[in-house]
Amino acid sequence: MLLELAISLSAFALASPVHSYPSNVKQDSSTLNALPACGPVVQSCQCPEGNFYSSVATYGFFPASAKDVQSITASSFSDLSYIGLNVTNTTGQDFEIGSSRTFTLQWDAASEPISVTEVLTTYNNYLESGGFNMTWEMGNLPFSYTRPNGEEAKIGGFWSYEELRQVGDYSFFLWSTWSCFSDVFDFSGFHELVFSRIAEILKEQGKSDGSIIGLTTTG
Ligand SMILES: *[C@@H]1O[C@H](CO)[C@@H](O)[C@H](O)[C@H]1NC(C)=O
Ligand SMILES: *[C@@H]1O[C@H](CO)[C@@H](O)[C@H](O)[C@H]1NC(C)=O
Ligand SMILES: *[C@@H]1O[C@H](CO)[C@@H](O)[C@H](O)[C@H]1NC(C)=O
Repeated sequence: MLLELAISLSAFALASPVHSYPSNVKQDSSTLNALPACGPVVQSCQCPEGNFYSSVATYGFFPASAKDVQSITASSFSDLSYIGLNVTNTTGQDFEIGSSRTFTLQWDAASEPISVTEVLTTYNNYLESGGFNMTWEMGNLPFSYTRPNGEEAKIGGFWSYEELRQVGDYSFFLWSTWSCFSDVFDFSGFHELVFSRIAEILKEQGKSDGSIIGLTTTG
């Protein structure tokens, strides 16, 4: 399954158009000093030297209840078995703030699989109708890696917001990730992989026809 995920990720990466992101290189030091560091708050910000900012949002509707979707995505923050990631360490129970999950990922920009720790920073259940919202972020920072050509590179981090809500007979699911990276990471491919895995499981469970209505990725 890890292998499948790795293959899918690099296939997505190959299919992705080449984006041009703003980097810090052209800004003078007065602008650099004026902006706060990019982080969990969505605001005007500045990535560390050598990093560029990217922001990807993916959303769509599953023809199933928010409670059904929630039972797949959210039994606990550390449980990523539904997408087959290689989770090597977890801390915390259920959705305790500060819970963490560590997994390894193949990334074309790095000479070896990278280990990423994600830490839960907020979590709210929508008690009446099912669903939740939560934020989490990369926790193992500063993060350094070696490019295939031997160069050392550094990542400033990424931050994510996710929300699942009942909308009529459908559940609306939104996942947004913003980041300061020094090489392109295919966040949109990763998001779409998770959306299609949820749709697949809903179908396997007989809870939907496996479709995602209005699946949209921006960024
Ligand atoms: C998961 O990652 C760990 C650490 O890199 C590695 O030792 C282990 O073999 C991996 N497991 C699988 C199933 O790929
Ligand atoms: C798991 O993560 C926690 C928190 O980052 C750390 O203290 C602990 O040493 C880790 N355990 C292993 C086996 O890596
Ligand atoms: C998340 O849910 C809580 C509780 O319902 C709400 O107060 C908060 O505004 C929500 N956050 C966002 C970003 O919508």
